[in-house]
Amino acid sequence: MVKQVKIEARDVSMRFKDVLAIQNATCAIHENEFVAIIGPSGCGKSTFLYTIAGFEQITGGSITINGKPVTGPGPDRGVVFQEFVLYPWRTVMQNITLGPEIQNIPKAEAERRAQKWIRLAGLSGFENAYPSTLSGGMKQRVAIARALTYDPEIILLDEPFGALDVQTKNYMIRDLQSLWTEANKTILMVTHSVMEAVLLADRVLVFGSRPSSIIADVRIDLPHPRSLGDPVLQQYEDEVTRTLSAEVDKSMRMERRTVA
Ligand SMILES: Nc1ncnc2c1ncn2[C@@H]1O[C@H](COP(=O)(O)OP(=O)(O)OP(=O)(O)O)[C@@H](O)[C@H]1O
Ligand SMILES: [Mg+2]
Repeated sequence: MVKQVKIEARDVSMRFKDVLAIQNATCAIHENEFVAIIGPSGCGKSTFLYTIAGFEQITGGSITINGKPVTGPGPDRGVVFQEFVLYPWRTVMQNITLGPEIQNIPKAEAERRAQKWIRLAGLSGFENAYPSTLSGGMKQRVAIARALTYDPEIILLDEPFGALDVQTKNYMIRDLQSLWTEANKTILMVTHSVMEAVLLADRVLVFGSRPSSIIADVRIDLPHPRSLGDPVLQQYEDEVTRTLSAEVDKSMRMERRTVA
């Protein structure tokens, strides 16, 4: 069966005043695919994700979701931001049930859905705590639990495991992996970790240095769940790392030239 295209970006460009962040980025992401985005710092990964989320208006090209142009945010897309955005006046539970609340889902049902992700995110017992009393990693886990409770078709993750310790990160990676296989979501995840990308994703899109476009689209042709010790996985990790290292070198040389 041919999978439907869920997200399509064609020749997307994004300019902020005098900074051309993205130039001619083109890709198609299919239903139920897990796609990772990797690239040098500052190349436009978050920007690309937020244009798909509908938070930023592109300055060239087109982005469609299910064939319809993106005109703004929508309930079909859930976002976990690079910097966790929690409402300080709402408790952990109230932050997590925000999505169902907007969708007018009764409170008891919303809390029942939330409980599953609260437990998996290791937040049990903190339901009534306020964000200011949580650690950075805990806030990040609230943000992830919120996106999962929202239950959108598409999940957009911007470095979701960045602030977590290795142990918690491994738990969350495993949960994300089983969520994705169970729930048939389309996931687009920005990460700096090649290991995370090849472990989780069907495809890894490598973004080039600014003005950025997609310079490589590497299919990770291995069944899920994958094991870190798999030598084929390591070959993929080496392949993506080589492409990325060349780009990071290039972007660092360019930054230095700009500064000098
Ligand atoms: N709202 C904005 N206004 C002006 N410039 C912006 C804005 N958002 C991003 N930029 C610029 O666009 C470029 C890409 O930024 P972006 O945050 O997308 O990078 P990134 O690839 O996510 O980097 P990192 O890996 O460090 O998170 C940068 O040069 C940044 O300064
Ligand atoms: Mg970013």
